[in-house]
Amino acid sequence: MTTTVPQTGTRIGALEGPAAAAEADVLVVGLLPGANGNGEGSNGNGAEPVLAPGAEEIDAAFDGTLAGLLALAGATGKVEEVVKLPSRGAVGSPLVVGVGLGKPDESGAIPADQVRRASGAVARALAGSGRVVSTLGAVDLTAAAEGVLLGAYRFTAFKGDPTAGKKPIESVEFPGADADVLEHAFAVAQAVSTARDLINTPPNALYPETFAARARELGEAAGLAVEVLDDEALAAGGYGGILGVGQGSSRLPRLVRLRWSGGENPAKKVALIGKGITFDTGGISIKPAANMDHMTSDMSGAAAVIATTVLAAKLQLPVAVTATVPMAENMPSDTAYRPGDVLSMYGGKTVEVLNTDAEGRLILADAMVRAAEDDPDYLVETSTLTGAQMVALGTRTAGVMGSDDFRDRVAALGRSVGEDAWAMPLPEHLRGELDSRIADLANVTGNRFGGMLAAGIFLREFVADGLPWAHIDIAGPSFNTGGPWGYTPKGGTGVPVRTLVALLEDIAANG
Ligand code: BES
Ligand code: MN
Ligand code: ZN
Repeated sequence: MTTTVPQTGTRIGALEGPAAAAEADVLVVGLLPGANGNGEGSNGNGAEPVLAPGAEEIDAAFDGTLAGLLALAGATGKVEEVVKLPSRGAVGSPLVVGVGLGKPDESGAIPADQVRRASGAVARALAGSGRVVSTLGAVDLTAAAEGVLLGAYRFTAFKGDPTAGKKPIESVEFPGADADVLEHAFAVAQAVSTARDLINTPPNALYPETFAARARELGEAAGLAVEVLDDEALAAGGYGGILGVGQGSSRLPRLVRLRWSGGENPAKKVALIGKGITFDTGGISIKPAANMDHMTSDMSGAAAVIATTVLAAKLQLPVAVTATVPMAENMPSDTAYRPGDVLSMYGGKTVEVLNTDAEGRLILADAMVRAAEDDPDYLVETSTLTGAQMVALGTRTAGVMGSDDFRDRVAALGRSVGEDAWAMPLPEHLRGELDSRIADLANVTGNRFGGMLAAGIFLREFVADGLPWAHIDIAGPSFNTGGPWGYTPKGGTGVPVRTLVALLEDIAANG
């Protein structure tokens, strides 16, 4: 069995001609909460939702009664709410679906991520459908297209019968859609799906060797330069952090490097680094049994940077991108590294290991020092680094640390693409708490306070002077342990692929 099977999904395209006339299976219209409705609860207050732009011609086919009929069926316009209405011949499709887009913002615009979430909810609610025509593209085509593709994602590679269950929607057509916008949305959704597939692949199938092989396949197929260091090459190169963390497992570590040239005249050079712990037991400082299975997702950062680098090539972005991806399995065994060990890191710093469960920062430190040798203009690292990220920001908001301006830029871009992110400080006093009795620094402080920030302070020690950098802690947002919502399925989410590609595009445009 190969480690992952690419998921076949929904096709998207443009519809020529009027939506009302299309002989499709389903016609989708957007709904906004009415003037008196808050779109939050039931429709008991009598407030009718209002049709969103794009539904005019369909409403005309219903003689102006469409919003009223959907309200009778329970629609309020609340975001992600899906209401189905048989059309009884009023339009070419037998079924009309109203989906809530939620409240407009203060400027009166409908936030893009509400459209993306609504479109994702449609994809989930209409699984099993054939031909769908969606008018949500009239509100925001990028968001509507990304949302429906991301919401249609399923991971069935490890089911006994991968074809069982409802199929994703076969095709979605957007009236008058621009082909370039659709193509871009499709490429982005593919990259997010690639990251999700890697994350969802279980740790007995995806371990450093097979993960590296998969990264090589993906990279070579996209025309990237690929380099894989195995355990011997890591030893020869002095990668003490990656080797220390990886030595407890019979599945030995790897360091993968993927390079997209940026074409003829790249604007800038960007180093991407992602944490690739294929399973995190905690090592000798072992984790409790409850929910340890979630640690199959401890390579989400790696998955995101691999998928993003492949996407940069596919989009031919005029930015040189090098992904540096350390991969290891953190296991307890007679060969495992111990609390009290001192590791000699790539580049020469020494680290005293006080907790083997703070392993991510150790493999990342090696990778970051290596990445900086290529003299990049920016360094971006992302990782499922700390449980403290979720304590501070919850499960859906990434914590972003680093140099002030660049950190703020990354966090703002994340929010702009619907991957919620928030800038966090690096309080200076925490550096003192990482002092070690015998080495240059310790891998943890003596207490739990500010755990996300302490990890950021640790990483900062391994960033070249003057290099703008950002660290994105995605412990919560990368893996959905609750129910599906919007375009986010259970399991791997693909966060922060869309942030990273938005960043590369922003750097291409603005330096
Ligand atoms: N991979 C974990 C962080 C994590 C926890 C990600 C829960 C996603 C969900 C990381 O390696 C870890 O174990 N961090 C420790 C650090 C501590 C020992 C300083 C943590 O957060 O408890
Ligand atoms: Mn850990
Ligand atoms: Zn970890």
